[in-house]
Amino acid sequence: MNLVLDSFEFGLHTQIYYGVNKLNDLPHLIRRYNYSKVLICTDKGIVQSGNLIRLENMLKEAGIDFFTFTDVEPDPTIEIVQHVKSLFIENGCDALIGLGGGSSIDTAKGVSVAVANPGDLSQYEGKDKIPHKGPDLIAIPTTAGTGSEVTHATVIKDKKRQYKMGILSHTLHAKAAILDPQLLTTVPRGVAAVTGMDALSHAIESYTSNQAQPITEALGLHAIRLIGQNLRPFVARRADLQAASQMMLASTIAGAAFIWGRIAAVHAISHPLGGRLGVAHGMANSLLLPAVMRYNVSTNYEKFRDIAIALGEPVEGLSLREAAERSIHAVEQLIHDLEIPTTLAALQLHPTDEELDIIAKEAMDSGMTAANPKECTVKDLRKMLEEIR
Ligand SMILES: [Fe+2]
Repeated sequence: MNLVLDSFEFGLHTQIYYGVNKLNDLPHLIRRYNYSKVLICTDKGIVQSGNLIRLENMLKEAGIDFFTFTDVEPDPTIEIVQHVKSLFIENGCDALIGLGGGSSIDTAKGVSVAVANPGDLSQYEGKDKIPHKGPDLIAIPTTAGTGSEVTHATVIKDKKRQYKMGILSHTLHAKAAILDPQLLTTVPRGVAAVTGMDALSHAIESYTSNQAQPITEALGLHAIRLIGQNLRPFVARRADLQAASQMMLASTIAGAAFIWGRIAAVHAISHPLGGRLGVAHGMANSLLLPAVMRYNVSTNYEKFRDIAIALGEPVEGLSLREAAERSIHAVEQLIHDLEIPTTLAALQLHPTDEELDIIAKEAMDSGMTAANPKECTVKDLRKMLEEIR
């Protein structure tokens, strides 16, 4: 970016409350914002972890009225969102709590849209198509993560089209996010690994995107460094509160980076890959990230060298190009160490040529490749899919 000729914007719209056991401040926050009854949106994993009962007891003790929905599913659908919207209205709620991974927070965001805006949610797909801001959301992430606690995005699945649609709007920023690293310690190991790769893909995509600007670059590169240092120890032992704290911050910082720095080809492909083949979001990103980095590396050797260094690769004595290419090796090594599969076949998925053609076309149609540092065609995206087949 040329700071004399170019201009940029940056804003973070969510108040962040960070701290181990910060969850205890929730009743105080609900009072501060004057909510009379909150709807808690969460999933069965959070129920089993004991975190929901902890939160409910806290609200009961504080005399705060609430209604709990515990049936959030991975890849939330339009139907689930409409169902929770009805519960929200029937129970006279006026604010939402998204407690869980990206699916719980994204469901709560979808409900907020549906409460204030009529008709089918699919009409709001894309950027800034939501006429009315819905009820407030307090996001409490339990994975690290999607960054949804600070972003302007929600991803909702349209089952009819087998399609994951992105709704992006300034009305979708959570009012507040409680970042309590204690909540990460009950995440299953495999989830910790792939959600960490989701955060890394946000950081790398926003850092290298053609929309990157000084503030998002600073955030993105720092998040890459934090993930390079902490994802392995966190996955190895989620009870390691130091590593969990750094991963929680890395995920939110990477989310803040991509609000303005954007995400690109990895996410363009991973959404239809999830929609068509059911590959979990973090897993899809992990599969695609090395392939997309290989495609992009020549666009900015300095930046990819920065990524290599941030991930702890020794680059002394290497040419700039060699140093940049070490970033791909570093990501592949990380994926290997986290024992994440690297192909669709390893996930027992064997899509036909036609299915992959459709996924590549949907990736192109999503418009997300517009931020990719190197221009993409459907054929380029199809080749990346072939690499992970
Ligand atoms: Fe993501």
